[in-house]
Amino acid sequence: MFFERPESGEVAVLVHINFNDQSVNYGPEEFVELAISAGADPVAVITGSRQRADSRYFVGTGKLDEIKEIVDREEAQVVLFDHALSPSQERNLESFLQCRVLDRTGLILDIFAQRARTHEGKLQVELAQLQHMSTRLIRGWTHLERQKGGIGMRGPGETQLETDRRLLRERIKSIQRRLDKVNTQRDQSRRSRSRSDMPTVSLVGYTNAGKSTLFNRATGADVYAADQLFATLDPTLRRLDIEQIGTIVLADTVGFIRQLPHRLIKAFQATLKESSEADLLLHVVDAADISRDENISHVESVLEEIGAEDVPVLKVFNKIDALPTGEARIDRDADGVPYRVWLSARDGVGIDLLQQAIAELLGQDVINETLYLPTECGRLRAMLFEQGAVRSESFDDAGRSVLEVRLPKKDYLQILARAGMSESQIEAA
Ligand code: GTP
Repeated sequence: MFFERPESGEVAVLVHINFNDQSVNYGPEEFVELAISAGADPVAVITGSRQRADSRYFVGTGKLDEIKEIVDREEAQVVLFDHALSPSQERNLESFLQCRVLDRTGLILDIFAQRARTHEGKLQVELAQLQHMSTRLIRGWTHLERQKGGIGMRGPGETQLETDRRLLRERIKSIQRRLDKVNTQRDQSRRSRSRSDMPTVSLVGYTNAGKSTLFNRATGADVYAADQLFATLDPTLRRLDIEQIGTIVLADTVGFIRQLPHRLIKAFQATLKESSEADLLLHVVDAADISRDENISHVESVLEEIGAEDVPVLKVFNKIDALPTGEARIDRDADGVPYRVWLSARDGVGIDLLQQAIAELLGQDVINETLYLPTECGRLRAMLFEQGAVRSESFDDAGRSVLEVRLPKKDYLQILARAGMSESQIEAA
């Protein structure tokens, strides 16, 4: 597979090998997108199949010669492998090809380094990069001319590669300390959020499914959405007012990807933690993607891995505009409970249906009623005001306070108990 050579970017040759002993093999398309996301210009994709990886060069000698020939002819600056390479395989390949070599982990880390926006995101990426690098530090760079600022050489690479392991360890420790601090702060803000009892809804999904676009559409926020993988690297939180149930917190999170290095799942635990503690997950799916089903099961297995398997999930089949029969709708199970919404985040079609489905799923535990309180219920009335549960108040002819209230049922029951009353004593309409 060859491509037209674009004007800028690092000239990259991609290598994607299928292994006969693996039950599922994927095409190279996603890897091409990853490379482009990192700012590379893929000029060739070399594919092949093997029984198992060669311990020295990962590929066999025939394939190695083929890669070398293309690298020389295209004057490639980097060779990207869609696989995890051992440090020694990487070093041997670089020596043989006389060209920088980066594996899938290194490439994903590089994209993460470019995309992280918040302080915490940057720290997490740097930590993962340093850890990845510490296993590779032995190789030195004598066998390659040093190129600054290329793929896989951003971030700490430029300053740390030449320092010794002791410095690297110290840096890792200091970042871990800072991250612990950020995590504590995050825990505190999460706790204060849960105290205020605003339900949290987390957007999860495969990378590029359209989470940020949907987030922006639903909240009117201006989050970076781009046709690049991993446009979102930090959870972004926004309040969203839903007519029937009140204010919820909507969280945008990092996209999932197959073969996401385990270290990265760990590094991004903080953002994923939001998902495992959410009241509802919106699993956003690119409904027009040919790998739709595989992506769904991949996301489901990651959710299980981070302990979010018990959180209720509403699937959001996005990009219906790209489907031949793209109609916005809610799919319901036998009990009439919504389990899937079809919409187009880009065109803003079906967003109202999504809000309706969220309201139905979360609203089961919300009191949204008019209460008639006689004057002797002054304490209860004051507590409802204090809770911020009163939407409006008027008085009827009998002098009763007519309150429109909206609050979580469990809070309502608690308030009643504190006021020394039971539900049956209150007249509601
Ligand atoms: P990550 O940050 O990688 O996890 O991506 P994401 O899931 O946040 O996706 P994002 O919102 O960045 O969208 C990815 C691409 O899909 C962008 O080019 C969007 O314009 C496009 N997109 C999003 N929603 C729709 C849609 O409803 N229809 C179409 N056709 N494209 C969409």
